[in-house]
This record gives sequence, C-alpha cells and structure tokens, in this order.
Amino acid sequence: MSGESGGAGGPRPSGLEFLGRLAGGLVHEIKNPLSTLRINLTLLKEDLAAAHPEDRGLRKRIEVLESEVQRLDAVLSDFLRYAGMRRLERQPCDLRVLVQEMIEFLAPGFRRDGIELRADVPSLPADVDGALLKRALLNLLLNAQQAIERGGQVVVEGSREGGFARLDVRDDGKGIPESELERVFNVYYSRSKAGSGLGLPTARRIVEEHGGTLELRSREGEGTVVTVRLPLREGA
Ligand SMILES: Nc1ncnc2c1ncn2[C@@H]1O[C@H](COP(=O)(O)OP(=O)(O)OP(=O)(O)O)[C@@H](O)[C@H]1O
Ligand SMILES: [Mg+2]
Repeated sequence: MSGESGGAGGPRPSGLEFLGRLAGGLVHEIKNPLSTLRINLTLLKEDLAAAHPEDRGLRKRIEVLESEVQRLDAVLSDFLRYAGMRRLERQPCDLRVLVQEMIEFLAPGFRRDGIELRADVPSLPADVDGALLKRALLNLLLNAQQAIERGGQVVVEGSREGGFARLDVRDDGKGIPESELERVFNVYYSRSKAGSGLGLPTARRIVEEHGGTLELRSREGEGTVVTVRLPLREGA
C-alpha cells in the first residue's frame, strides 16, 4: 500500500492503530444497516399481527430474525467498546462509592439468582474515569454471577496497598480449570454460550489505562478472585 499516512503532516498511526480505526469504521458500516433491519422487522411484526393475528408461526420466525440481529449488534457494540475505547476522562472519585453504586445496580439480579452480593470497601480516593471503571467492575461482577450455578456469594473487598487501592472481587462459583487459566484474557475467549469473550480483556484494558493492574486467580470447583489495583490519589 502506498502513502499510508495519518493525515498530512500528522503523526503516522502505528499498524495496530490503523487496523483499529479501519475495523471501527467497518463496524459502524455494519451497525447502520443492522438497525434498519431491526426497525423494519419490528414494523413487519406489527403489520403481520394486524393482518394475520392468528398466525403465530410467522411471528415466531420474525422474532428469531429479530434476536439474531440483536445478537449481531451486541457483538459489534462489544467490539467497538474494546477496540475503540475513548480517552479517559478522570474525575476525583471515591472507589468505595463507585463500588457501592455498582452493587446497588446489580443487587436485584443477584437476589433473583439467590446470590449474596456485598462490599466491604473503605474510603479509597482516586482520580478515575468513573463510567469506564464501572464498566470494568460490571464485567467482573457479571462473570462472578455467571460462575455461580446455585446460590453463593460474591464479595468486593477493598484495601490500601502502598500508593494503590486494591479491590478483590471474590466469588465461590465454579472456578476455571487450570488448563484454561492463561486463555481467559484472550479477546473472544469465552466458555459460555452467550458470552462474547470481551469482558475480561476489556476490564483489564480499562484498569491498565488507569495505570493499574488486574489479575485473576481461580481454582476449579472453589471459586475465583480478581484483584484490581489502581493508583490512589496522591497524598490521599
Ligand atoms: N469469575 C469467574 N468464574 C469462572 N469463570 C470465569 C470468571 N470470569 C471469567 N471466567 C471465564 O472466562 C471466560 C472469559 O470471560 P469474559 O468476561 O472475557 O467473557 P464472557 O464472560 O464469556 O463474555 P462477555 O463478553 O459477555 O463478558 C468466561 O467465559 C468464563 O469461562
Ligand atoms: Mg464476561
């Protein structure tokens, strides 16, 4: 290819950056017709219901199409979230409050599954992009929820470690076989039917963008702990 450029005079993007942009553009090009498809399927379903209220078979088929379109759209959104992460917008924040908000948000779903969800986090002042960090935490908590088959416990424990805030997300779910452990951070690696395999790599990436680390320990049949370390606000 000739003239690979990042715009006249601008810095030339690295190969990966270039690919990322290209892929992002492609995803948008696919998402647009998908939303047209989705809207028209919904309209079609309404028209059908009006014209042939008794025909459930046709309705079912349209619903299958609708849910497949939705799945494609979700896969693409996940990809965009991973590949096209925006720049951090840091704000002063107490991680204790952020964790508490996530827990309140998720509590009803956990309760429905008979899972106890709680936090034990002291005040941990940091400068973080709250929306992105919540997304990382959400991915970890959903993984924990999905790992628990019947009843169980998920706990977020916070502590200070030198200049870092430490959050341990602990579950007593089914754990991960040792042979699979090194793969769980691979993009698109998933052992669940509905999963896209972007949750953990996205969470790790968000934490690393903040200058932190994310590690996972797990034992099959016993549970999993994900440890997040994030720089505390200086002097805090
Ligand atoms: N807390 C956990 N307990 C057991 N297995 C886990 C846990 N967290 C992750 N895993 C395993 O790692 C795999 C990858 O996780 P990841 O979050 O990246 O993708 P996913 O959950 O399958 O899909 P999604 O993109 O919807 O998050 C999961 O499919 C699951 O098998
Ligand atoms: Mg996940």
